[in-house]
Amino acid sequence: MKYPYSRFVYGSTRLGDVAIPAEKRVELACAAMRTGWWFHTSTQYGDALSILGQAFRKDPEHIPSMIYKIGGDSIAELEQSIEDNLRPVGLDHMDCGQLCLGGNLAREFAQGGACLKALEKIRESGRVRAFLLEVFPWTSEQPYRALKAGHTKGLVDAIIFYLNPLQRFADNRLWDLILDTGTPVVALRTVSGGPVHRLRDEPGFAWKDYLRQRAVEVAPVFEASGIKSWTEFCARFAFSVPGVLATVGTTGRKENLSEYQTVFGQPLEPLPKGIMDVLFALQRRWSEEVDVHAESWTM
Ligand SMILES: NC(=O)c1ccc[n+]([C@@H]2O[C@H](COP(=O)([O-])OP(=O)(O)OC[C@H]3O[C@@H](n4cnc5c(N)ncnc54)[C@H](OP(=O)(O)O)[C@@H]3O)[C@@H](O)[C@H]2O)c1
Repeated sequence: MKYPYSRFVYGSTRLGDVAIPAEKRVELACAAMRTGWWFHTSTQYGDALSILGQAFRKDPEHIPSMIYKIGGDSIAELEQSIEDNLRPVGLDHMDCGQLCLGGNLAREFAQGGACLKALEKIRESGRVRAFLLEVFPWTSEQPYRALKAGHTKGLVDAIIFYLNPLQRFADNRLWDLILDTGTPVVALRTVSGGPVHRLRDEPGFAWKDYLRQRAVEVAPVFEASGIKSWTEFCARFAFSVPGVLATVGTTGRKENLSEYQTVFGQPLEPLPKGIMDVLFALQRRWSEEVDVHAESWTM
């Protein structure tokens, strides 16, 4: 593995939220940069890259290490996406590229095709210094084959997918292989989108009803844990999962940034085994009953 990723990675979706004035978002980015955390970003997050570029020019001493989503259906498209990410932030290389492989490229990767050498070459050039491989329930087949065949070894630092108390977006077969092989993981969506009671009780807060239904099942588990803060519960969940290197979360508010700092600034005790067993059993069932049947990108 190339890097020690920070345990908490600041995701930048909220930096692209135009409902927050741009100067406030630059200010927030600068505050997050001073924590020393890694950042996670993408061309898909509104104008987040441009906000980051402004923050970097304002405080070049604190430019963070960053993960960028890069992808396409061919190496040429992937190279273009590297350029599209780097241009707005004004940097000449990526610390880490999150491979979001289109169908053809994913198949080629799983078959051990020429793209493996091409990715190696990109890494050796220093343009992208490390890779993660993105997975969803509806794209788990090719990553499963790639991992099984050993094509990720030495090339990919970790598999990255939604992993939080309400979501585990690798299908059951891939998940079992990840655990069996001790493959490192970067967990996405630290707090599952927000506090579990709001997800359960506030109409419209959960962006899909399956999340509200899961919150109904998870809220009693959280309450029984005796842990006061949902953020702490979620952080401890992530680091109770074998192989997790980092969890990626976000906020558009200074007070919630402070809460992440408090939670991740202290040692994270694993959740009791009984709680993890209950959550893992729920996630195995949700995967079978819901996730693998979902239309792509609907969850
Ligand atoms: N495929 C992918 O690569 C992918 C997909 C999804 C997400 N991501 C990455 O992961 C990051 C996080 O994803 P996410 O935003 O979907 O999930 P998340 O971090 O679980 O949820 C963030 C939401 O939780 C709220 N929140 C955070 N701390 C809180 C607290 N203490 N109290 C109350 N509310 C709190 C925030 O609201 P406020 O802003 O109001 O604080 C924000 O709306 C993204 O920024 C992105 O970088 C990557």
